[in-house]
Amino acid sequence: MTRTLITSALPYINGIKHLGNLVGSQLPADLHARYLRARGHEVMFVCATDEHGTPAELAAAKAGKPVAEYCAEMHELQADLARRYGLSFDWFGRSSSPENHRLTQHLAVKLWENGFLEIRSERQFYSVEDGRFLPDRYVEGTCPNCGYERARGDQCEECTKQLEPTELIDPRSAISGSTRLELRETRHLYLLQSKLAGEIEAWIDSKTDWPQLTVSIARKWLKEGLRDRGITRDLSWGVPAQFPGAPWEGMEGKVFYVWFDAPIEYIAATAEKAHAEGRGEEAWRRWWRLDEGARDVRYIQFMGKDNVPFHTLSFPATLIGSREPWKLVDYIKSFNYLNYDGGQFSTSQGRGVFMDQALEILPADCWRWWLLSHAPESGDSEFTWENFQASVNKDLADVLGNFVSRVTKFCRARFGEAVPAGGEWGEREKALIADLAGRLGEYEALMDAMEVRKSAAALRAIWAAGNEYLQEAAPWAVFKQDPDGAAAIIRFALNLIPFYAALSAPFIPFTAERLRVDMGIEQLEWPQDVEAALRLLEPGHRFTVPDILFRKISDEERTEWQARFAGRG
Ligand code: MF3
Ligand code: ZN
Repeated sequence: MTRTLITSALPYINGIKHLGNLVGSQLPADLHARYLRARGHEVMFVCATDEHGTPAELAAAKAGKPVAEYCAEMHELQADLARRYGLSFDWFGRSSSPENHRLTQHLAVKLWENGFLEIRSERQFYSVEDGRFLPDRYVEGTCPNCGYERARGDQCEECTKQLEPTELIDPRSAISGSTRLELRETRHLYLLQSKLAGEIEAWIDSKTDWPQLTVSIARKWLKEGLRDRGITRDLSWGVPAQFPGAPWEGMEGKVFYVWFDAPIEYIAATAEKAHAEGRGEEAWRRWWRLDEGARDVRYIQFMGKDNVPFHTLSFPATLIGSREPWKLVDYIKSFNYLNYDGGQFSTSQGRGVFMDQALEILPADCWRWWLLSHAPESGDSEFTWENFQASVNKDLADVLGNFVSRVTKFCRARFGEAVPAGGEWGEREKALIADLAGRLGEYEALMDAMEVRKSAAALRAIWAAGNEYLQEAAPWAVFKQDPDGAAAIIRFALNLIPFYAALSAPFIPFTAERLRVDMGIEQLEWPQDVEAALRLLEPGHRFTVPDILFRKISDEERTEWQARFAGRG
C-alpha cells in the first residue's frame, strides 16, 4: 500500500475562520484523508495554526494581549473547532513550535551554505508616527496591478499578485493609518529564488497531471521572473533570524518572514507529533526524507488559489535550495473562492457565516455536505441560504434521511428491530447490485481524482438509487399478500444502510458514525464487492431505528439566518 502525506494550508491564527476558508483547504483535505484511510492507505494528515507575521501581531494588539498568549488561546479555539467539524488531522500543530524554529533555522543555514541566501541592504517604509519599520501587512495601499484600494504590502487579495510594500500606490500604515512614511535603510536576508528558477521550472514541467488552476498560476509567476525575496522582517514574534550557529551576523531583532517558516511547519508538525508520542526522529523522517523512506510517499497539498505561488515556487525553492533530500509535493489541489450571498465573506464586517456560528445553528455534517458538494473547483462558487436550504432538505433529509427512516421504521412495525429473513433476492435486487457496482466504481474514480463536487454528485446518486428501489419494490404493498417477499426487500434495504454509511463517511462522518452504532456494526468497511457488502446484516441481526438524521430547514429559519449573517457592512 502506498503511503499518502496530506497537508492543508495552515489557517492564520488571527481569529475564527469563515466557511470559505474551511472549504478552501481543510475540509477537502479531510475528505481525501478519510477516503484514503477507508481504502486502507496509510495516511499522515497534518495541519497547524500559522502563528507568525503581521496578521498575528496585529490581531494580538487589537485583542490587547501579549502575542504568545493570544496565539496559545486561538490555537486551542481553532483545534476545538476542527474537532467539532470532524477534521481528522493526525496532528494539528503550531508554527511557533520549537520543532519549527529548529527546522526553519536549519534550512536557512543550508540555503546560505549553498549560496542561495545573502544579506542585502534595502530601503523600507518607516512610519514616523508609529516609530517603527512597517513590514508587509503593516503597509496598505492601492494595488498597482488591479487598482484594489485595500491591497496589503505582501499580496493583493483581489488579483493574488505578490507585492513589495514599495509597489503600493498611496501607501499608509495599517497600525495608525498614517501616510507619514519614510524609506529608511535596513538589512535583510534574501532568498535568491532567481538562481533556482530553472530548477523550479523543470520541476513544474514534470508535473503533467496537475490541475489547470494550479499550473496556470505557477506559470504566470514564473513567466514574470522568479524574484529574489527578503525572508526576514523587523518583528519580535517569530523564528529569530540571528541564533547560535548562524553563519551570518547583524540580524538581531529580526525574525524570518512568515511565508518562509509557515510551510516548513508542514514538516515540523509531523515532527511535533512524533515527539509528542515519544517516538524517535525516524517516525517523522520516513514521511519527509527521501533517503529515509519517503520515496514511497505520495504527497498531496490542499489550498486556496492565493496560496499557490508560495507552494509551487517559494517553498519548493527552500527545499530544493537546501540540497538535502526533502520530499516535494506530488500533487496540489487548489480551490477558487467561495463567495457569500452576492458578495464576499468579510471578517472585518462580520459578513457571512463563521465556523463557530455555523455549528450553533446546524450540525457539522450539514455544513460539510453543502460545502463539499459546492466546492469552488472550476470557478468561484457562492453560498446562498436558498441553495443551502434546498441542499440540506433535499439531499440529506429527503434522499438519505428519508430512506433510512422509511426502511427502519417499516421493519420495526412489521418485523421488529431485527433483520428479517425472507427469501432470496429477485431480479430487481440483482439489477440494483449491478447498478451500484458501476456507481461505486465511478465514485471511487472521482474520489481518487479529488473531483470533490462530482464525487458528491455520484454519492447522492447512489443514495437516490436506494430510494427509487424502495419506491418500486414497495414492501408496504407487497406485505399484504407476501410477507416473506416484503421481508426480503427489507433485508436488502436495511443492508443498504451500512453500505451508504461507509461510502458517505468521508463527507458526513458524524452521521455515518450514528448509523454504524444504530445498525449495530463494529466497524464500517469500504465495500470491496457490492453483493457481499449487502449481505453483511444477516437475518436476526439487531438494530435500533435511528433518531431523525437531518431535520429540514424551514423558510422562517432561512429568512432569519439570512438577516442575522448579513453583516454590519
Ligand atoms: N496562513 C496562510 C493563509 O491562510 C496559509 C499558509 S500555508 C503554509 O493564506 F504554507 F504556509 F503553511
Ligand atoms: Zn490587485
